[in-house]
This record gives sequence, C-alpha cells and structure tokens, in this order.
Amino acid sequence: MTLATPDGAEIAYRYTPGRDPIVLLHGLGLDASMWDGVLASWPAERGALVPELRGHGGSTLGWRAPSIDLWAEDVARLLDREKIERPAVAGLSMGGYVAFALEATRRGRCRALAFLSTTAAPDDDAGRERRAGGIATIARRGWRAFADGMMPSLLNRDDDRFAANSAHVLAMFERAGDAGLPPALMALASRPDRRPMLASIRVPCIAVVGSADAITPPDRAREIAGAIPGARLHVLEGTAHLCALERPREVAALLEDL
Ligand code: MLT
Repeated sequence: MTLATPDGAEIAYRYTPGRDPIVLLHGLGLDASMWDGVLASWPAERGALVPELRGHGGSTLGWRAPSIDLWAEDVARLLDREKIERPAVAGLSMGGYVAFALEATRRGRCRALAFLSTTAAPDDDAGRERRAGGIATIARRGWRAFADGMMPSLLNRDDDRFAANSAHVLAMFERAGDAGLPPALMALASRPDRRPMLASIRVPCIAVVGSADAITPPDRAREIAGAIPGARLHVLEGTAHLCALERPREVAALLEDL
C-alpha cells in the first residue's frame, strides 16, 4: 500500500489489521522486509503496520529533506490513515530514533516502546565525519561500496544465517540506493539528543541489544533502560547490530511479551 504526502513523497507500507497493533520501524538502508522473520513468529490475530521510511524500499523522496522528525510525521500519517490509535512501536537503530521522535512529538500516542540496537544519544563530531565519509563513498563508488563497508558491523560472520542475511541486507540497500542513502545519512547526523526525555517516558519500554553490536554497543541500550522508569534491558548473546535478522524468534517473543 502507499500513502501520498503533501510534499509529494509516496510512503510504501504493509498493514495487517488485528488487535493491539504494533508498528515496526526499520534501520538505515533497510526496508519492511527486515521484519519478515519476526512477523513469521507473530500471532496471527495481532495487527502490524510496517512502513518503509521515505528514501527506503518502495518509498520515494518528496521535496522536504528527510529528517528523523519527518519520518515520524510520515508514520503518524499512516497511523491516522489506518485509524490506529495507540500502537506499540518497535524501532531498530534508525527506526529507534524515529520511535523516540514519535514519543517526543506525539506524547501518549505510543502504548509501549521497544528500542532495538539503538541509542538516545546524537552523533558526536567523529560520527558526523563518518557520515560525510559515507556520503562521499556513495557519490564516488555507489551504494554497494557503502553497504560492503557497513556489513562487518551489521551482521555476525559466524552466525549460521550470515550468507542469507547478508544477501537480504544487500537487496534492501539496493532499493534505498544512491538516491535514498545520502539524505538518510544527513538526517542521522543531525538527529537530536533524546537522553533528556528518557526519565519522562511513562509507557512500558524494553531496550534490546546484541552483545556483539559494534554500532550501538550494549552500553547504549543500558543507558536507555537505566533512565526510563520501569524499562527492561535484554542482551542477546553473540548477536550483532541487526538482531531482528539474526534472532527473529527471540525478538518476536520479547515484543509480544512487551
Ligand atoms: C542503522 O542501522 O539504522 C544505522 O546504523 C544507525 C546509525 O548509523 O546511527
């Protein structure tokens, strides 16, 4: 399905109506299909809305530059269209930044929040420089060189499903491609610091992270779970950044429990 935005973007999404719906937000370069493994273990009667954030998957860019807040605005538009009042929201990495933005800008809209492989902290100067390096790599050598450079930090080479998961990740990155990735990197580099809001979050929350996550290491999840009242931390042993691909059944069980 697609939704047209006032600035001319088309937002692609999947929606399965059902009780107590959950919204699943993907990470940088990925698309709705990153949740396929999780949804395979999802109870059939539960609803799920899975957007593709503008510039990713089947979603196009409009004339407004992507930002974390704009992605959250698009998600809120989808919720309004599908008349979903108070969903649980789970975001992985960049999707987690969007989940924070939804909670910051639309207090009370989320019934529960799951922060997977993400951080509440903004980029530091070195991080922003790495974003600029990524943008230059894409301009000179294309999305594939950028994706190849990220792969060792996204997935654990020793995981049984590494070959299938890395092929899947490349297929998703190809859909974002040279057009979608640079504006997304700019949006990530200029995202706000969400640490000051953590103590004021009042809905059930979990933070989930792989013990071998090199992009958002366990300390980042510990910081989130430690600061949100009542939040729980789950560390998945031996798992890298894309925990929903490496441990889909465990992630589905944690989300269902939440
Ligand atoms: C992601 O997986 O969404 C990105 O690695 C997030 C980031 O680079 O900050």
